[in-house]
Amino acid sequence: MKKHLLSIDDLSVDDVETLFATAAEMHDVQHRQVKKLPALRGRTIINLFFEDSTRTRSSFEIAGKWLSADTINIAAKGSSASKGESLRDTVLTIAAMGVDALVMRHPASGAALQVSQWVDAAVVNAGDGTHEHPSQALLDAYTLQRRIGPLEGRHVAIIGDLTHSRVFRSNVLLLTKLGARVTVVAPPTLMPSGIAAWAAEAGFATSYDVDAVLPDADAVMMLRVQRERMSGGYFPSAREYTVGYGLTRDRLGVLGPDVPICHPGPMNRGLEIAADAADAAQSAVLEQVSAGVAVRMAILYHLLAGEEAQP
Ligand code: CP
Repeated sequence: MKKHLLSIDDLSVDDVETLFATAAEMHDVQHRQVKKLPALRGRTIINLFFEDSTRTRSSFEIAGKWLSADTINIAAKGSSASKGESLRDTVLTIAAMGVDALVMRHPASGAALQVSQWVDAAVVNAGDGTHEHPSQALLDAYTLQRRIGPLEGRHVAIIGDLTHSRVFRSNVLLLTKLGARVTVVAPPTLMPSGIAAWAAEAGFATSYDVDAVLPDADAVMMLRVQRERMSGGYFPSAREYTVGYGLTRDRLGVLGPDVPICHPGPMNRGLEIAADAADAAQSAVLEQVSAGVAVRMAILYHLLAGEEAQP
């Protein structure tokens, strides 16, 4: 693996398979009474979050702790960033304390790449603006593989607010890398500009019609409507969004019972996903959260323990 994990493009298929194999071993650790492994003893990991997070920040913290690293959380609120300190000064200050890895989330696309050029520590992109969220895509694909087997040739539908979604971008890169057939679905106002050229180059399909795509899907990934990133009216009303693009109770009936339903969280229940779908037996939402710890343990392990290390 490369020194940093900034984008899915940093990973080869071999890297992904290695990460998944390690994650499977780490997953077993989650079910032990004593969950500590000594692999990263003496290493220090800083979680530096300039945006809110429940799943990503806590699972990276748990992952580091279960690998015996010292993990520290820094949020922009409560740090000197709120006094006007620049991102560069903040990360150089933290790096000067001798950290081994920076797991960072930032509202600016490209922030993690920029930071990786300023510090010696390994940098993990835990979400940069609307650009990428590679560890989320890795845990999504890992979860899907455990549910439906190898993704080669399987049809994954990604539905929702594509324009504002870093999860969608990382997932398209990873799922197509693994040979899955991907269709992305959104209303015209939430379809990113220029997507046709990217779709043609990367080999995925686009659609405005959920009901045409769902019957043929082997897995469904619903995306959150990111109202906090919307400056204007992208759809007339929440009700109309749900009718056109939500995974409603009626649409749940169209899916086969073994078709996993994924959502990266946090969910807007009743908007992009009905409670019936979120809580259905085929919902993989909590499995994704559980896999998130194992996959993030694998990421930290391979970045920090070295190529030659075996879990
Ligand atoms: N999926 C995801 O990134 O969730 P959080 O914002 O809670 O970390």
